[in-house]
Amino acid sequence: MAFPLPLALQAFAMSYTVLARKYRPQAFEEMTGQEHVVRTIENAITLDRVAHAYLFAGPRGVGKTTAARLLARALNCEKGPTAHPCGVCRACTEIRDGTSVDVAEIDGASNNGVENVREIRENAKYLPQRDRYKIYIIDEVHMLSGAAFNALLKTLEEPPGHVKFIFATTEAHKLPDTILSRCQRHNFRRISAAAMLGRLKDIASKEGITVSDSSLSVLVRQSEGGMRDALSLLDQVIAACGLTPTDEQVAEALGAIDRMVIHACAQALLTRDAKTLLVRTEELFNRGVDMKKLAEELALHLRHVFVAKVTGNAPDELADADRQAVTALARDADAAQIARLFDVVHTSVWDINRAPQPRLALEMALLKGMHLAPAAAIPELIARVEKLAAGQGAPAAGAPGGRSAPAPFRA
Ligand SMILES: Nc1ncnc2c1ncn2[C@@H]1O[C@H](COP(=O)(O)OP(=O)(O)O)[C@@H](O)[C@H]1O
Ligand SMILES: [Mg+2]
Ligand SMILES: [Zn+2]
Repeated sequence: MAFPLPLALQAFAMSYTVLARKYRPQAFEEMTGQEHVVRTIENAITLDRVAHAYLFAGPRGVGKTTAARLLARALNCEKGPTAHPCGVCRACTEIRDGTSVDVAEIDGASNNGVENVREIRENAKYLPQRDRYKIYIIDEVHMLSGAAFNALLKTLEEPPGHVKFIFATTEAHKLPDTILSRCQRHNFRRISAAAMLGRLKDIASKEGITVSDSSLSVLVRQSEGGMRDALSLLDQVIAACGLTPTDEQVAEALGAIDRMVIHACAQALLTRDAKTLLVRTEELFNRGVDMKKLAEELALHLRHVFVAKVTGNAPDELADADRQAVTALARDADAAQIARLFDVVHTSVWDINRAPQPRLALEMALLKGMHLAPAAAIPELIARVEKLAAGQGAPAAGAPGGRSAPAPFRA
């Protein structure tokens, strides 16, 4: 934590189960955003066609371990095998608590030697002690040594009928083809922003946290599709700001920039309000905000405005309030102008990175971007040239920089 917690909050933090653990899905249907995997596995269980080895591949914190435990429960539940394990029998509760004698969760990173795999092989020969299957969940399986993989291969080739393997990895490309070809592979995806926002809202309301969608979407963005990361960030926000954090507090706690400030900057850019833009930049600079981060956020915001302009809808991943703001900006701006400003801001990220005075680099990039002539849409320019060639009409106002407003580009 960046700053010491008040005493009351410290006590609160001590008795506190982290949200990611508290809200680990306890049934397949509770899993967010991995429907393709869940459906296939549920079908396999229902049709009694469960493979003997599964590989769950995907980024961290998207549900691989959760799904592995749910599959183990589905197979060993006293009422099973079933796609809807009861959750209350001994097999189910012990798997949840990690104490089941027939389900071993092995960390591949620290048990990566050939002797570890030999032990599994020896052990796998014997029937399960109580439940239907002996299940080996090996996490970070890509960490096994070459010799360990070879030893594992023998078991995978002719596994005893009572044994199931579930491997999880964030780096499937590191696995030998021989292993890959003997597993049924499922690719877990990053969780979409909209799905993640939904789940966070749900959890926040269950926890009695009053937090705006807009703040939650900052969390969503920082977590890059990983639910565990999103929930850890929410823990961090609660620890720092309590149960009713304001947008500003959330932004501060996450080292993010308040959405409304970003919005104000984008608006100033699009409406050529240099003064506001400079004032805002200075404020952020004085608050210690990283100028590169500001440029990145601004580029992202312009991207959203552009999407809203060309598709007619603000991106789904935004909270309602942000969507309205983005839609309003898009309505009043010209697509070519948004695109050009995006280019300017996006390119400036590289320059700011190298600049000895990042603030100067950013300000100049923004001011230049703002004062470039509005690029008319190509069809309109052609029409203008044709008009001139035909001897009709004078050149457009002849203003330096061609400030005559072009007809908005309609996509
Ligand atoms: N798809 C998901 N749906 C809901 N919660 C999830 C999901 N993926 C991860 N989580 C949350 O993150 C925590 C860690 O997930 P986990 O399955 O251990 O991720 P992984 O094994 O992919 O790193 C879970 O306890 C749960 O709170
Ligand atoms: Mg895991
Ligand atoms: Zn059960």
